Amino acid sequence: MSTELNVLTPEETAPCCSPGCCDDTAAEAAAPAVEAVAETPPTNADIKATVREKYAQIAVGAASSCCDSSTCCTDDISMIGDAYDEVEGYVAEADLGLGCGLPTEYANLQAGQTVLDLGAGAGLDAFVARRIVGEEGRVIGLDMTQEMVDKARANARSLGYDNVDFYLGDIEAMPFEDDTVDVVISNCVLNLVPDKKAAFAEMYRVLRPGGHFCVSDVVYQGEMPEAVKRSAELYVGCVAGAMERGAYLGALQEAGFSDVEVVKGRVIDVPDEVLHQILGPAEREALRASGSAILSVTVYGVK
Ligand SMILES: C[S@@+](CC[C@H](N)C(=O)[O-])C[C@H]1O[C@@H](n2cnc3c(N)ncnc32)[C@H](O)[C@@H]1O
Repeated sequence: MSTELNVLTPEETAPCCSPGCCDDTAAEAAAPAVEAVAETPPTNADIKATVREKYAQIAVGAASSCCDSSTCCTDDISMIGDAYDEVEGYVAEADLGLGCGLPTEYANLQAGQTVLDLGAGAGLDAFVARRIVGEEGRVIGLDMTQEMVDKARANARSLGYDNVDFYLGDIEAMPFEDDTVDVVISNCVLNLVPDKKAAFAEMYRVLRPGGHFCVSDVVYQGEMPEAVKRSAELYVGCVAGAMERGAYLGALQEAGFSDVEVVKGRVIDVPDEVLHQILGPAEREALRASGSAILSVTVYGVK
C-alpha cells in the first residue's frame, strides 16, 4: 500500500450543512438559499472547497454537525437512526454526529482484512472496523480535510491504536495502489463528492478482485424537485449532492461492481413546515402522491 499522498489544492462543493442548517436561522435562510443556488450553480471546485471548509470547522469544534440535537436535525429527522454507541469498538470522541448508517454492521468484515474508510472524519467507522479486523488486519481512513485527518490521528494516538492510519486525499483520485484493499466502507460521504462516477471508479480500482464495498449514503427516490432537495438540505444536510436511488445503483454497476444491493434503507422525513415554505398546496399534494422520498441507504457490492 502506497503512503504517497497527492498534494491537494483548495477545490469545490456540495454542502452537507448549508448556511442556516445548523443554527436558528434555518427557516429564514431557506428561501434565499434556494434562489441563490438556482441562479449560480456551484462548480465542482466550489463544492469541494465548501465541504472542506465546513468539515474543518466541525473538526476543530467551531461548527456544530448537521445532526446535533440543538439544531436542525431533531430526533424525527436524525440521519443516523441506529444507535452506533451500542456497537463494539465505538469511540465517542470520533462520533461528530455526521453518519447516516452503520456500514460496518453490514460490511462482512473479517479478521486480517485491509479496510479502507472513505471520508473517515474523526475515525468513527475506522475504529469500529479496526476492532473487527484485529492486529493482523489494517484500516486506512481517507479524508480530504486536513483538520479531520489531524483529529482522527490524534484520536488513534490517544487510544494507542496501531492498526489504523489516516491519510489526506480525495476520493476522486485516491493515493492508493490498484487491487490492494479487501473492503471499502464509507458513512455519509459519497453524496458530498461531485464526481460520483470518478469516486466509484476509484473504489473499484483499489479493491482487490473479489473484494467488496459497503457504504451508507443519502439518495432520493422518485421525482424530487430541486427546490425540495435544496430546502431539505438546510434541515438534514447531505441532500444537495444526493443521486436518485436507481441512478446511484446503476452507476455502481457501470463502474464494474456486481451483486449491488441495498442492505438497509430508511426514509428521512422532510417536515411539513419545510415543504410549506417552498411549495404551494397543489405541489405539496402532488409530491406526497408521487411517493418521492429522501432515503438513507446502506449499499453492498462486489468487485
Ligand atoms: C458527513 S462527514 C462523515 C464523516 C465520517 N464518515 C462519520 O460518519 O463521522 C463527511 C466527511 O467526508 C469528507 N469528504 C467529503 N468529500 C470528500 C472527498 N471528495 N474526498 C475525501 N474526503 C471527503 C469530509 O471532509 C468529511 O470529513
